[in-house]
Amino acid sequence: MFRRFCRVKAIAVAMVPLALASCSATETVSFANDVKPVLDQYCLECHQPGGAGFEASGLDMSSYQGIMKGTRNGPMVIAGDSMGSNLLVLMEGRADPSIKMPHGGAIEVPASEIQTIKAWIDQGAQNN
Ligand code: HEC
Repeated sequence: MFRRFCRVKAIAVAMVPLALASCSATETVSFANDVKPVLDQYCLECHQPGGAGFEASGLDMSSYQGIMKGTRNGPMVIAGDSMGSNLLVLMEGRADPSIKMPHGGAIEVPASEIQTIKAWIDQGAQNN
């Protein structure tokens, strides 16, 4: 009896993020107007030629092309797959917290901004 209750509860909790994701997916996110300003504010300082993040990983976030090109380890944005995109894995702290982005831990990207980037990736990561 108790085990069964737990299972139902776990399913209900798991569905909350799904519901949120499908809400935010109804509006089309623009790379130029919605995504780039967030990345410029929180990431660009280190992720352009001369910055620590660019020097260490090769990730140049000064342009759409640079963002889609990714790093020496491969693409960081996989169009349509926010769960598998390392850019988001790192922003959400799903990898080791020591490599959460922005690097250093002083600044946090607000959850609403992360949702915007997530929706943009899930909508196909277009240069729109
Ligand atoms: C204070 C500097 C700094 C800021 C700001 C910063 N990064 Fe980084 N980033 C780094 C460094 C340094 C690395 C190299 C990996 C490491 O040392 O952890 C890196 C690596 C990465 C990588 C590549 C990981 C890999 O597997 O090659 C991604 C993706 C990334 N950053 C995304 C972001 C995003 C998205 C933001 C903004 C939300 C951001 N970074 C902000 C410094 C920074």
